[in-house]
Amino acid sequence: MLNKDVEKVLISEEEIDKIVTDLAEQISRDYSGEDKRLVLLCILKGSIVFMGDLMKKLTVPVEIDCMRVSSYGAGTESSGSINIMLDLVRPDLPECDILIVEDIIDSGRTLSYLTGYLEHKGARSVKTCTLLDKPSRRTVEFTPDYTGVMIPDEFVIGYGLDYAEKYRALPYIGILKPEVYSK
Ligand code: PRP
Repeated sequence: MLNKDVEKVLISEEEIDKIVTDLAEQISRDYSGEDKRLVLLCILKGSIVFMGDLMKKLTVPVEIDCMRVSSYGAGTESSGSINIMLDLVRPDLPECDILIVEDIIDSGRTLSYLTGYLEHKGARSVKTCTLLDKPSRRTVEFTPDYTGVMIPDEFVIGYGLDYAEKYRALPYIGILKPEVYSK
């Protein structure tokens, strides 16, 4: 049964599975070389569900790591600055091909900042993969290397995405009823 705060399902469990399978195929193809050392970098917390599903579908060796950054405030708008709350500590970064895994790109600030940050830290390569992209919300120019699906400017929750830390465990991506966040 649909959660009472969900207006409608935007992307069903089955559709998500297909999108993640397609992304995993592309990534597996691109990182299949002997010289590659793929490290999936989960940007906590929103990407945790997507990352877990994506890594299971890869057919190439993979390592994982995590960072936590903050972009949004408690509400629906991005706050403007990026804070690193959990940093990546890897002395072997120059041998790593980092693929940053995000649940959603909105303004583009988080991924634009993180890409530059990890390149500056010395990663051998840095690419980006997002499940969802809201291109209409960009404030900085940014194009990810892998995109699951582009979505309209709706407030989405579920499959890792939250509103005020709720709804992350929903297995689908839903649109939140406006009355929930305009209270
Ligand atoms: C969200 C999302 C991205 C970022 C995208 O994270 O997971 O990291 O915002 O927004 P941007 O393109 O405008 O930078 P959030 O800060 O909500 O944290 P969470 O993943 O812990 O929910």
